[in-house]
Amino acid sequence: MSDHNHNAADSNEASSDDTMTDASFDGIQQHDHPLPKWWIWLFAGCLIFAPPYFWYYHNGTEGRSLADQHDQLMAENLKLQFSQMGELKADRETLLRFTYDDSWLRVGRSIFKTNCVSCHGRDGVGQVGPNLQDDHYKNVTDIADILRVLENGANAGAMPAWKSKFSTNEIVLVSAYVASLRGKSDGTGKPAEGREIAPWPPAPPQEASAEEPASQG
Ligand code: HEC
Repeated sequence: MSDHNHNAADSNEASSDDTMTDASFDGIQQHDHPLPKWWIWLFAGCLIFAPPYFWYYHNGTEGRSLADQHDQLMAENLKLQFSQMGELKADRETLLRFTYDDSWLRVGRSIFKTNCVSCHGRDGVGQVGPNLQDDHYKNVTDIADILRVLENGANAGAMPAWKSKFSTNEIVLVSAYVASLRGKSDGTGKPAEGREIAPWPPAPPQEASAEEPASQG
């Protein structure tokens, strides 16, 4: 034990950059061990790096944060998917197909979030515009009427027409999303307006056979 201490003291004394500070308190002296050079440079480097980094990523410019880049990539991916999907027909059959297609409903949802939430509330709970989650509608008796309301608007423009702003694909996908909102009400949304209508028709059957061509022969 005493050997070990002795050795440690020896090696301290032997090291060339071991100096004592001038300070002496009650005969107790302090060694002067500066921080290693690499540590100081690292520290200085961080101080120099941080302000420009912060300025670049957090000055409010769009498109620089990771979240923005993610959004951009999602949007590009969406455009690609759109181009592969071809031009949809804004008819009843197409709408029904997409109403029961979860992956495309996500696209409709993003269109809804950007354009419709201001009047219809989050997830269509209703605000200026009617609640889209309940079974009551003012301008809709058949599911295809949603397409027409989207294209032409309703109530003299209180519900705007979207035909000139959206592609047909967007009209179909956002209509499908609107249709999918029905029945999601938890009773806290805007009170029902209009009259209660019959349930949407079930998913069209050709969807299943298209997915399983092998089993058909
Ligand atoms: C400026 C506000 C506003 C915006 C934005 C808006 N809506 Fe509407 N929407 C309304 C109003 C108001 C009505 C009710 C019209 C009426 O009284 O007949 C309505 C009605 C509807 C209806 C028919 C509901 C029913 O009960 O007949 C649908 C479907 C609908 N909107 C979907 C959408 C979608 C999808 C979007 C986004 C693309 C959208 N709305 C954007 C205000 C808006």
